[in-house]
Amino acid sequence: MHSIKDVLQPIENAKGLPSHLYVDNSASEDERERVFFNSWSALSMGKDVPDAGSVMPVDFLGMPLLVVRNKAGAIKVFQNVCRHRGMRLINEPGKLKGPITCPYHAWAYDLDGALKATPHVGGANIHHHDNIDPAEMGLLEVRSHVWHDVVFINVNENAPPFEVEHRELLERWKEFEKPFFHGGADSGFTLTLNSNWKLAIDNYCESYHLPFVHPDLNSYSRLEDHYNIVGKSGFAGQGTLVYNPSLSDDGRAFPNFEGLDQKWDTAAEYVALFPNLLLGVHRDHVFNIIIEPQGHDTTVEHIELYYSSEDCLKDDYKDMRVKNAELWHTVFEEDIGVVEGMYEGRKAIGYDGGKFSPVMEEPTYKFHYWVAERMLSNEAAE
Ligand code: FES
Ligand SMILES: [Fe+2]
Repeated sequence: MHSIKDVLQPIENAKGLPSHLYVDNSASEDERERVFFNSWSALSMGKDVPDAGSVMPVDFLGMPLLVVRNKAGAIKVFQNVCRHRGMRLINEPGKLKGPITCPYHAWAYDLDGALKATPHVGGANIHHHDNIDPAEMGLLEVRSHVWHDVVFINVNENAPPFEVEHRELLERWKEFEKPFFHGGADSGFTLTLNSNWKLAIDNYCESYHLPFVHPDLNSYSRLEDHYNIVGKSGFAGQGTLVYNPSLSDDGRAFPNFEGLDQKWDTAAEYVALFPNLLLGVHRDHVFNIIIEPQGHDTTVEHIELYYSSEDCLKDDYKDMRVKNAELWHTVFEEDIGVVEGMYEGRKAIGYDGGKFSPVMEEPTYKFHYWVAERMLSNEAAE
């Protein structure tokens, strides 16, 4: 039996993560703590809480969470639980007109989580009690950070600040550090996979499968047009040198982001930000994919597309937005078979984690290495 330590070898000798980390539900409990709670995990998108007072309940890895946009326009994340008797607070996304009010005994919290009202808590029409100090009973906040319209959380509050942890990727893509605009209802979709979440990341990291899994894509963006991206910190992926969209028959195109280097005239990059975010940047649009593990054997991909200006949200561009979303839908759907197939294969007795191509799969190896380091982190400290 090989072990997690066999991942931490030079790529030529390394094995992939052991199969029990994919197919064994009890392993995912440990993973939740070590991989997700100790890092900056992707939770939801800023566009889901567009206005002050917008709330979005998200259940993440078994935790009920609440994403809120406060009066100042900042996004905060709280445990979606009332501090009184532990009632789940909000069940539906929406825009609150007043405070966050518990449906059980109507304790009310403002958008920054402060407890503001405890009706009748001291008896009929007596709305306070000496034993209950509102200052100590605010909502439980989760450490969060917003970048690229993604809301990240670090549940254990032990990761370096986001900008420090991900300085390298922020620097690499600093030209895209500008407002972008979600395409609306036609520019988002979800896919559900019967597979472990890590295999969706594996597959996204490499372009090796392109000729076999994406024959249409490969006809204009060939294997040899791609390059590997391997970050020193927690990201890896691949890029293409021949991005050349054709989304309309009459020569219309989306406006490009302003101020981009010439490189982006033809380049596009696809990066997995570990643990669970997939990103794509192009001169005319970007996309975010949050990989949501639902247990060890089900994975939901939340795919959202964004454009360079508000003009792109108009009806003039609707056909192109729809076509672009369809194009990506086709590509990501084509991947489902292999991501699910790798999961099934990991139930085989004796499979030993396989081999990585030192040329084609350094980004995937990087992801395994990153996970392995975290899974072993306590042991390493001993
Ligand atoms: S549980 Fe929320 S007010 Fe009682
Ligand atoms: Fe693919």
